[in-house]
Amino acid sequence: MEGIVAMFFMLGISLSHLVTGNAQDYFDVGKFGAVGDGNTDDSPVLGKILAPNADARGKFKSENCWLCFQRVVGLIVEGPGQIDGNGATWWTKVPISERPTALHFQLCNDLRLRGLTHLNSQRNHIGIHNCSGVAISDLHIIAPSDSPNTDGINIALSTTLVISNTFIGTGDDCIAISGGTSNINITSVTCGPGHGISIGSLGEDGTSQNVDQVHVTGCTFNQTMNGARIKTIPGGTGFARDISFEWITLIASGNPIVIDQHYCNGRDHYCQDQEKAIAVSDVTFSGFRGTSAAIEAINLDCSKQGCRGITVDNINITSSFGKNLRVVCNNAYGTTASTVPAVSCLLS
Ligand SMILES: *[C@@H]1O[C@H](CO)[C@@H](O)[C@H](O)[C@H]1NC(C)=O
Ligand SMILES: *[C@@H]1O[C@H](CO)[C@@H](O)[C@H](O)[C@H]1NC(C)=O
Ligand SMILES: *[C@@H]1O[C@H](CO)[C@@H](O)[C@H](O)[C@H]1NC(C)=O
Ligand SMILES: *[C@@H]1O[C@H](CO)[C@@H](O)[C@H](O)[C@H]1NC(C)=O
Repeated sequence: MEGIVAMFFMLGISLSHLVTGNAQDYFDVGKFGAVGDGNTDDSPVLGKILAPNADARGKFKSENCWLCFQRVVGLIVEGPGQIDGNGATWWTKVPISERPTALHFQLCNDLRLRGLTHLNSQRNHIGIHNCSGVAISDLHIIAPSDSPNTDGINIALSTTLVISNTFIGTGDDCIAISGGTSNINITSVTCGPGHGISIGSLGEDGTSQNVDQVHVTGCTFNQTMNGARIKTIPGGTGFARDISFEWITLIASGNPIVIDQHYCNGRDHYCQDQEKAIAVSDVTFSGFRGTSAAIEAINLDCSKQGCRGITVDNINITSSFGKNLRVVCNNAYGTTASTVPAVSCLLS
């Protein structure tokens, strides 16, 4: 937090067991009765941190985050309390490259994040970057469905992380898992509105990125644009493997099951195969129940190199608008059993 912890923390948000370098400091933030009204750091205690509006954007340019924690081991950030990014003024006025992540953790091992409400972030609500041993639970993350790039939780370069019992309704990915991540468990997360839980996108500009051991269980997609999704950009190298989505409830979810290896990161609709592709393998979609708001309930669109070890079983997805649903595969190798709609396009 780089020496400015006190000014950001209010009653209702407790920050404990802060260890920086060799020194160990305890902050009882109940003693700091400050409040963000967007301008001053000190006014009546509200249990709330409010970001300044977009006119203050120059302050965040170098950091790319509003509340930034770096190199803190054993940090606990606990609610109740609210972190309000005051995003409405940013979304319309400020280009994405100048909008900060609201709460960002970098190189913070053994991090606990629990019980807070996160509102209307300028860009992503929470970033977890190069951290290991992270437990996130009991959060409420809320922004309008049309707010741009407001991912709920964005994870990169991190290992051994659990997210549980959390509600995320925003304008972009509920949880986005980027390259350099492994051993991520996500349980009992309700998403919607938003774009669902995404692995990727991976491989932009030919980069090498790996994601493995991601297990999503007991989650709900409520009127999300996508559900369980893996997206890779042609030309990248590396892998996305040992990934499962199990016991998923769908409430009029768009595109409930998607592997998209022709993703373009918004630049186009369908990027063509290249000589290289991220290798997608050992991916399980199992125990999906509920309704799809899109005709294509399952779309396994792999690169020409193919996806291996895809398992689709124990699925019952019906249409939320009374139509027959479709399943589409492209170069997807694997096995299937007991699915509605039937998956007859997997290659063996
Ligand atoms: C992550 O942190 C470790 C430990 O400081 C460092 O060695 C490594 O280079 C970092 N990785 C990235 C990709 O930033
Ligand atoms: C995730 O769940 C798997 C299977 O239950 C378990 O082996 C693994 O240790 C868990 N990972 C974390 C980070 O809790
Ligand atoms: C789904 O979302 C709608 C609209 O936000 C909400 O009214 C409903 O309670 C949610 N359903 C569940 C089961 O969470
Ligand atoms: C699938 O779900 C629908 C709607 O709940 C139900 O009517 C149908 O019997 C289920 N089909 C199977 C094979 O379980």
